[in-house]
Amino acid sequence: MTTIGTPLSPHATKVMLLGAGELGKEVLIALQRLGVETIAVDRYAHAPGQQVAHHARTIVMSDAAQLKALIEAERPHLVVPEIEAIATPVLQELEAAGVVRVIPTARAARLTMDREGIRRLAAETLGLPTSPYRFCDSLAELQAAIDGGIGYPCIVKPVMSSSGKGQSKIDGPADVAKAWDYAMAGGRVNQTRVIVEGFIDFDYEITLLTVRAPNASGAPEAPGAGGQIATQFCAPIGHVQVAGDYVESWQPHPMPPAALDKAQQIARAVTDNLGGQGIFGVELFVKGEQVWFSEVSPRPHDTGMVTMITQWQSEFELHARAILGLPVDTSLRNPGASAVIYGGVEARGVVFDGVAEALAVPGTDLRLFGKPESFAKRRMGVALARADDVATARSRAQLAASKVRPRAA
Ligand SMILES: Nc1ncnc2c1ncn2[C@@H]1O[C@H](COP(=O)(O)OP(=O)(O)O)[C@@H](O)[C@H]1O
Ligand SMILES: [Mg+2]
Repeated sequence: MTTIGTPLSPHATKVMLLGAGELGKEVLIALQRLGVETIAVDRYAHAPGQQVAHHARTIVMSDAAQLKALIEAERPHLVVPEIEAIATPVLQELEAAGVVRVIPTARAARLTMDREGIRRLAAETLGLPTSPYRFCDSLAELQAAIDGGIGYPCIVKPVMSSSGKGQSKIDGPADVAKAWDYAMAGGRVNQTRVIVEGFIDFDYEITLLTVRAPNASGAPEAPGAGGQIATQFCAPIGHVQVAGDYVESWQPHPMPPAALDKAQQIARAVTDNLGGQGIFGVELFVKGEQVWFSEVSPRPHDTGMVTMITQWQSEFELHARAILGLPVDTSLRNPGASAVIYGGVEARGVVFDGVAEALAVPGTDLRLFGKPESFAKRRMGVALARADDVATARSRAQLAASKVRPRAA
């Protein structure tokens, strides 16, 4: 798709984002800048990405009939999943019928919406190092898996969940039932399957943003059409997670060359298998020169918001280019960091105090996502900072984030 039409004309290049949160919003902005006609789909009205797209549509994306009807009515050239809770069999059906191209592929969207699909692919099919794991459908099975080899400490997660929802650490026998109940309450859909993973005592964890895009010689993009897809890596992103949710990230994260090499090999193996075009956030645990695969998002990653201040092309611009079949540049511009701004309050239509004070911190920038409703633990914005070194950037980002104070209007 190296020809781009005029938006709102019969020859428009149309892209539909399934999920229009803060990550989708930035992809939409990048697409808008390239003259693409955009359709932002979310489950609620005035989602961040809907505020910057040509068209806003509000449906239940996990409802197969609604999703199919919308895609058939809009007929976008590309469908770009930005969240996991989507009726992915519909995407597979429409992709197989040649109705749309799904980014990166419908199969990748399907495999990664469920921890079981991607974990079995990585560990059992590709033989990549992961934490020891078992899937369980009852408290009794969970206890048996722990006693049968997973051991303590371990981590329990619903197979369908994200951002730490329903996830908890088990330190000993007294925690098992509590972790099971928490997982049952926190899963995305009403199902009972969990993964229990042995706890990896890593030194640090990274996101390795990996881009599959046509090689720079401008070869055609469609897999199977003779196009050459090249894999390129961004500099590793370090991050801190609290209760399974990202609070801070920075780039580059220093790594010994042997560990970086292993990380890139793992990321390449997974993304080669998932295929298609676009950016992937490959999550890895590192201890010395040992590297474990954790999970992968076949789309921009929340910890990668830092690239809006560290790279010449942010992860969102890289994704937009890659999916359109355009060449990409993953190089780092300067070290930087991001720090999340939480809602702190439960209210609709909050106001943000302290924005000027935040931006007075040297080298900083801000994204306020425009979410209509705030929750205490909802991500409402992010502070970004650049500096000559990561340590300075991190303290600037944290300081800027702390200055922004959402409150009920
Ligand atoms: N097996 C594990 N050992 C140690 N820490 C883990 C393990 N699994 C998850 N974590 C921690 O929890 C975070 C969230 O887990 P993850 O599987 O990425 O869930 P999510 O899909 O919600 O992001 C990870 O980034 C890591 O900090
Ligand atoms: Mg994760």
